[in-house]
Amino acid sequence: MNSNYHFIGISGSLRKGSLNTALLNASLELLPEGVTMEITSIADIPIYNGDNDLPLTTHRPESVTTFRNKLANADGLVIVSPEYNYSIPGGLKNAIDWASRGEDSPLLNKPVALMGATPGMWGTVRMHLAFQAVFVFLDMKAVYKPEVFVAQASKKFDADGKLTDEFTINLLKKKLQALKDIIIQLNKN
Ligand SMILES: Cc1cc2nc3c(=O)[nH]c(=O)nc-3n(C[C@H](O)[C@H](O)[C@H](O)COP(=O)(O)O)c2cc1C
Repeated sequence: MNSNYHFIGISGSLRKGSLNTALLNASLELLPEGVTMEITSIADIPIYNGDNDLPLTTHRPESVTTFRNKLANADGLVIVSPEYNYSIPGGLKNAIDWASRGEDSPLLNKPVALMGATPGMWGTVRMHLAFQAVFVFLDMKAVYKPEVFVAQASKKFDADGKLTDEFTINLLKKKLQALKDIIIQLNKN
């Protein structure tokens, strides 16, 4: 079947030299056949304020509406994030919170692939665990396998931020394929 699928990719880190953004960028070249991906930034999303959310106002901040629309138009979500203090980085959690509100939340039932990179030894395992609660609450369809915990990540990219570690490259490919597969599976039901 020649269906085309579209992913939206977000990085939980805003810094220029981010290992996680580098991993997300690497995904662009490893997508399964028939899949496109747009990477979008969460840098302009303000701190969640219920007074600026529906139904109290007639419109949300523009950056939030844009973000929600991009999520709504994607078949699958790719999140690549560091672990901050054993958990989800605040900026990323905040963006997820904005997108989670309302019966028309674009996150409800959304297929999602989570990955993470750290210079440390534990590969963002605890950030992954923190995300599970979010995935459950929003009925998101997470692809848990293969787990992409990129430990000692500084050694896995070259000076230009290009992913050079073959094991990680293969893992990334499999994860992206798994996201496509779950979308196909869900579309059948
Ligand atoms: C606020 C903060 C908290 C952090 N907490 C953790 C942590 O719990 N576990 C971990 O492995 N690394 C932790 N780190 C280190 C990050 O993994 C490291 O800075 C990493 O490079 C951030 O990802 P990035 O390269 O994509 O920006 C923390 C960094 C920051 C700034």
